[in-house]
Amino acid sequence: MATILVSGGCGYIGSHTLVDLLENGFDVISIDDLSRSSEYALAGIEKITGKKVKNYKVDLKNFDETLAVFQENDSIAGIIHFAAYKAVGESVEEPLLYYENNLFSLINLLKCAAEFDVPHFVFSSSCTVYGNPASIPVTESTPMQPAESPYGATKQMGETIVRDMFSNNGGAAILLRYFNPVGAHPSALIGETPLGKPQNLVPAITQTAIGKLPTMKVFGNDYPTRDGSCIRDYIHVCDIAHAHTLALQYLQANKYTENCEVFNLGTGNGITVLEAIRMFEEVSGRSLAYSMGARRPGDVMAIYANNEKAVQQLGWSIRYDLKEMMRTAWNWELAIKETEEKVKNN
Ligand code: UD1
Repeated sequence: MATILVSGGCGYIGSHTLVDLLENGFDVISIDDLSRSSEYALAGIEKITGKKVKNYKVDLKNFDETLAVFQENDSIAGIIHFAAYKAVGESVEEPLLYYENNLFSLINLLKCAAEFDVPHFVFSSSCTVYGNPASIPVTESTPMQPAESPYGATKQMGETIVRDMFSNNGGAAILLRYFNPVGAHPSALIGETPLGKPQNLVPAITQTAIGKLPTMKVFGNDYPTRDGSCIRDYIHVCDIAHAHTLALQYLQANKYTENCEVFNLGTGNGITVLEAIRMFEEVSGRSLAYSMGARRPGDVMAIYANNEKAVQQLGWSIRYDLKEMMRTAWNWELAIKETEEKVKNN
């Protein structure tokens, strides 16, 4: 069985995808410099699957070190590229960090892919490429808007780079546009571990509920939506992970009609911030300390996916609903607390 190289395999979506690939018979290796992730994820993956994953602690910005991974593994049949920075606010403060990290890494991986004739490439993109869409739900052909942040710009440019690369050089690629990935593996052995104060909604909710944060704010309750808060398409990380396995299988079965195809990965359900909070309160049995705050600059009012293309062409189906998203996110937060307490008491 040829190997799939996963960049960012110790990160949030990368680690869940490694599990899904292993459970579907793929051999995998990971490249992750651990700058924003931890090798603990590999221990979790091993507990879930019974398989050890080799991680190369390599910075993809270093071309020679990246190339050496390909030299050591000469049967790489496909690449899934997750490794990237993803904090919208940080990207506004440090744009060069984002352009340098997210684009140089991608370019180096693509150079290696070309040199070693790796036929298939899957790129982590984001619904951020749609900006503030003129109509919802968005389909893959909904026009992109100018990026709202350097992070968003790196996703748009990344898509262009991958598309240009695969339209002329043989092989085939898939761009997966994630909506809002949330939740954790049902085993609570892997999940999201945000560095510092969480910027995303679900980690902010779970960290507030567990007492790491005293309170949280709902960013805006005066939008023209059904309850005044923003609408997003939350999608369970295991459903996102499985779509990567299906994307690889689709490429390997030569089912594609264009050398670079794009798929939305969302549930198709728009959920408000207040609805997400209410669902969390229901599954956790806790009442959340939150208050209404001002709108967050750069937030779009409402976005959710039309996911028919992924459902029909990749054979993708949604296995986790909002309740399961919140339940697994909460169980993961409880598991982190338990581990931290064990470490403290030792
Ligand atoms: C953003 C990016 C997305 C990226 C994701 C991961 C955009 C438009 N979207 O998603 O591409 O993949 O981050 O980092 O750039 N909220 C609160 N209180 C909080 C936190 C969030 O009310 O403490 C609200 C936000 O206003 C928003 C919703 O929750 O309405 C979701 O926010 P968040 O989880 O940060 O994701 P996005 O901004 O949608």
